[in-house]
Amino acid sequence: MDDIKIIKGNFIDTADKDSFRINNSSYLIVDGELISGICKSLPEQYKSIQIIDYDDSLIIPSFTDLHIHAPQILQRGLGMDMELIDWLNICTFQSERKFENIKYAEEVYSYFTEMLYNFGTLRSCIFGTVHQAANEILAKQLIKNGLYAFVGNVNMDRNSPAYLTEKLHDSLLQTRNFILKYRDNERVKPIITPRFAPSCSHELLIGLGRLAEKYKVPVQSHLSENTSEVQWVKELYPEYRNYSEVYRKHGLFGQTKTLMAHGIYLEPEEIELALNSDVILVHCPDSNLNLSSGIMNVTKYLDLGLKIGLGSDVGAGHSLGMNQVIVRSIQSSKIKHAMDKNCRVLKHSEAFFMATKGNGSFFGNTGNFDKGNFFDALVITDNSPLSGKPEPLDSLYRFLYYGDDRNISVRYLKGNRI
Ligand code: GUN
Ligand code: FE
Repeated sequence: MDDIKIIKGNFIDTADKDSFRINNSSYLIVDGELISGICKSLPEQYKSIQIIDYDDSLIIPSFTDLHIHAPQILQRGLGMDMELIDWLNICTFQSERKFENIKYAEEVYSYFTEMLYNFGTLRSCIFGTVHQAANEILAKQLIKNGLYAFVGNVNMDRNSPAYLTEKLHDSLLQTRNFILKYRDNERVKPIITPRFAPSCSHELLIGLGRLAEKYKVPVQSHLSENTSEVQWVKELYPEYRNYSEVYRKHGLFGQTKTLMAHGIYLEPEEIELALNSDVILVHCPDSNLNLSSGIMNVTKYLDLGLKIGLGSDVGAGHSLGMNQVIVRSIQSSKIKHAMDKNCRVLKHSEAFFMATKGNGSFFGNTGNFDKGNFFDALVITDNSPLSGKPEPLDSLYRFLYYGDDRNISVRYLKGNRI
């Protein structure tokens, strides 16, 4: 009974994507890092333990973000009148260049990790830059803030400005060093991160695929985000049937666990390939709207059985808060539905599931309050001037739609308040 905590409050999570699971005024028992149960009345054996009582507050699983660019945190809201390729060339590469400077990296990454913590994104899959020293600073800041993450040293050796273009050998060596340095780390793990096919040579993709296989490391990249980008990939890699096959044939599409951001314009064959491999497509609705990329047909993909995650894609996405990303994924599906009634609207439970349980599955047993999962949770306080007790589900909707970090009063990760 040494490390038992009894947490009382209104719990909301999802067992699957189809509905919310609500446990009003319940007791959740945490044994060390793990949940050992949730109940309406407290069993006799626990009666001597002091209850941590959150009253009318809502307790939800903490968020996981499966696609975010740490160096773009200060770029949110800028360049939003451009489409992808111009936005990269005119805006993004300039801001990533600044991470040559260690002092700048220290300052910005300290802010970035603090923001993740504030918004309750306690686990995430992050793109760094091509700069090794800065990537290590990012890893250090995440560890210091007690967060869990996969961090990728970004690879790019062509079609990029000289100041971000790596030499093939250096790019692979640096990635290998990063893997070796972090593969046994408890909190920050390496993930292989070719920026996207157009910024990588055939040889670089081959080398990265080999590293993924040799060290059993997951992969993250961008896929089929914008129609000009898709066309460009066809020109750069004419010998491949489609964009997904470029990654697949280089060992970077499901041979190890893979995250592919966007995936808006997939051909039927690519959908088939994704269905049959260990690939999660990461829906980034804010970014897709901001860069006029398009709208993923997320409900069609879900109904086909594809594994779909959710990402903020900061800085093309402007909201770090996954509550806002959840809302935008629903709103985007409504726009799609308005234009084509064959497209179904995304349910709130589906979007919430993706940001918690679905995304969490990339990290293992987290994302809902099932017995045996890590107790990773946020205590949400509804500050609205209400008469009487707030209805828990109403509080959740209010938080999703207009809440922010100020509504998150407590954060738990692996059973501990952080
Ligand atoms: N494709 C290649 N690089 C990027 C990036 O930084 N952001 C987005 N949204 N798409 C990309
Ligand atoms: Fe991205």
